[in-house]
Amino acid sequence: MSTPRTLRQIIRSVPASDGAGVKLRRSLGQTPHLRLDPFLMLDEFSSENPDDYVAGFPAHPHRGFETVTYMLDGHMLHEDHLGNQGHLKSGGAQWMTAGRGIIHSEMPQQESGRMRGFQLWINLPAKEKMKPAGYQDIQAEQIPVVSLAGGARVKVIAGVLESDGTSVEGPIRGVTTAPLFLDVHLPAGTRFEQPVGAGHSAFVYPYEGSLNLGDKTVPRGDAGVLVDGEVIAVTAGDEDTRFIVLAALPLREPVVQYGPFVMNSREEIEQALRDYSDGTFAQAA
Ligand code: CO
Repeated sequence: MSTPRTLRQIIRSVPASDGAGVKLRRSLGQTPHLRLDPFLMLDEFSSENPDDYVAGFPAHPHRGFETVTYMLDGHMLHEDHLGNQGHLKSGGAQWMTAGRGIIHSEMPQQESGRMRGFQLWINLPAKEKMKPAGYQDIQAEQIPVVSLAGGARVKVIAGVLESDGTSVEGPIRGVTTAPLFLDVHLPAGTRFEQPVGAGHSAFVYPYEGSLNLGDKTVPRGDAGVLVDGEVIAVTAGDEDTRFIVLAALPLREPVVQYGPFVMNSREEIEQALRDYSDGTFAQAA
């Protein structure tokens, strides 16, 4: 019998605003103490009111980490300084490795309707912070959807789903922190189990319904940090529940963040600011 992970901490999401005034809820990353190595930040955006999202995220830089956008509903256009363009549509994901630098914008392509999804920031190891920027753009139809005997329906974005004798790998490849990223729909009262590597950081985030772990509950819109065991084991509350599962190898390196720059030292942050102001920020090495 493998041991289920236990709930160590609940990180409550708080209302926040980013870009040109997009309303969102931030759980991980609202303060430096509320990171979960290598996860730096988790934002959930969800609104049917265009005033909350239509201004989007005009051009801004990133250096030293990865941004992962997962769209549940809606349509955004992504463009960067290298001329790359990508459409982020319902059910799709974009895994962007900012590396030494990307200047990009993410703008809504709708003026009404629901815009809902997540942006997650994942740190890069020191030796990869200055590598060239890269993308993995994944359309909804490239993400495996697995129906398990216990009732769960799982989208496998990264890593390997291993439940009920099933083994299905997601489309994201080649990430050093070996991330697991699942989107799970669990009918009321049913259980879901997924093994997770020893020592990997892990959390669950219900965006509809709630999750029970033993006598504890992770409510909608909060991140539940899970520790000390080989299996994530959760049961949906008394309504149908949708949640994301994230796990990855911690880096255990110093983190120095200045807005959209995440490096290992203050000197590297100062270098990033100099590179950005003199226009060499995102040029090839
Ligand atoms: Co960005």
